[in-house]
Amino acid sequence: MPDYKEIRVNTLPAYTVTIGPGLLKNCGGLLRKTLPVCRVAVVTDSIVGPLYLETVTESLKAAGYTVSAYEFPAGEGSKNLETLSGILEFLASERLTRSDCLAALGGGVAGDMAGFAAACYLRGIRYVQLPTTLLSAVDSSVGGKTAIDLKAGKNLAGAFLQPAAVLCDTDCLKTLPLEVLADGAAEAIKTAVLSDPGLFNSLEDGMAPLLDPAALIAGCVAYKAGVVERDEREQGERKLLNLGHTVGHAIEKCSGYTVPHGHAVAAGLAIIARASARLGWTSGNGARTAERICSALRLTGLPVSTEYTPEALAEAALADKKRAGDSITIVVPKEIGACALMEIPVSELRFVIGTGWEA
Ligand code: GLY
Repeated sequence: MPDYKEIRVNTLPAYTVTIGPGLLKNCGGLLRKTLPVCRVAVVTDSIVGPLYLETVTESLKAAGYTVSAYEFPAGEGSKNLETLSGILEFLASERLTRSDCLAALGGGVAGDMAGFAAACYLRGIRYVQLPTTLLSAVDSSVGGKTAIDLKAGKNLAGAFLQPAAVLCDTDCLKTLPLEVLADGAAEAIKTAVLSDPGLFNSLEDGMAPLLDPAALIAGCVAYKAGVVERDEREQGERKLLNLGHTVGHAIEKCSGYTVPHGHAVAAGLAIIARASARLGWTSGNGARTAERICSALRLTGLPVSTEYTPEALAEAALADKKRAGDSITIVVPKEIGACALMEIPVSELRFVIGTGWEA
C-alpha cells in the first residue's frame, strides 16, 4: 500500500484529506471508509473528464457505488448560474436523493460547481472532493467554500458546505502544464507568507511544487485545516486566507476571467506586499520582505504586476463581497510567516493599491 498522508479537518462533521499517489484508481475503496454505498454523480470538466473520469467511474463501481457523470466546458467562464442549473437538473433527472453524493473531479471550478450544487440540491446533500490541480489540492478543495461568479464579481453567490472526504491524488500533478502548477504554487506561497517561514524558504527557488508536491500540499492543508476549524464561516481569522485576493479577484474580473486565479493572486500578493512595505505596515525591513515574496513568485513563473490601473482595480474590488459598508478588510504581511487584518475606508483602497502597484 503506498504511503498516504492523512490530515483530519475537525469541523462538524469532520473529514479526512488523504494525499498521495494512485488515489483516483483506488477512490471507490477509500471512500467506502466514510461513504456508504449510494449513487455518486461525478461533476467534472471537459479537460479533466477525458483524463480521469473512466478511472474514477471504474473504481467507484467496483466498490459498489452507482455512478453517473456530468461534464461542463472547462474554465472559470463556466462558473455561473447556467452551469449550476445544468448540474441541478441533471441530479434531478438521475433521481439522486439525500442519501446520495456528488464527487467534484477537477480543479477549483469543478470543486466550486459540485460543492455549490451539493449545497443547493434537496437543500443539501454530501459531496467529496477529488482535486486534480495543485491549486485545488493546496487550497480550494479543503474548507467548504463553494461559489459561482456573478456579473458583478467573483464568488458572489455560494454556500459553506464541508466535503465528506478529500482524496488528493498526487499522480495528477505530474501531467499538469507548468503554468497550471504555478497557479497552485501561488496559493502555497500565500500560505507560507501567512504561516510558515520554513515553508516559505522551501518555496523560494520555485522548485518545491516539482520536487515534493505531497509535502507541500500536506503543509498547506494542515495550516488551512486549523484555520477552518477555528473560524469555519470566515468571521475573523479565516479572512487571512484572502491574502492577495482583494486585488487578485479584481484582476480576474478586469480581465474577464482570462487571467488564471493563481496568477491574479500572485500579482495581488506582490502589490499588497509592496504597499505594506512602503506604508510602513510591514515590521523590520519591509522592502526586503516584499522583495523576497516577489522573488519567490517570479522564480515560480508568476507575475508580480498587472496592466490594470489602480483605479480600475479599486473599482472592481469594491464590488467584492468582502466589503462591509464603508470599509474593506485587507490582509497585510507583517513578516514572512505572519500577516494581519486591516480595516481601511473604501475611499483609501485606490491609494493603497496605487502605493504597491509599481514593481
Ligand atoms: N480560499 C480561501 C478560503 O478557503 O478561505
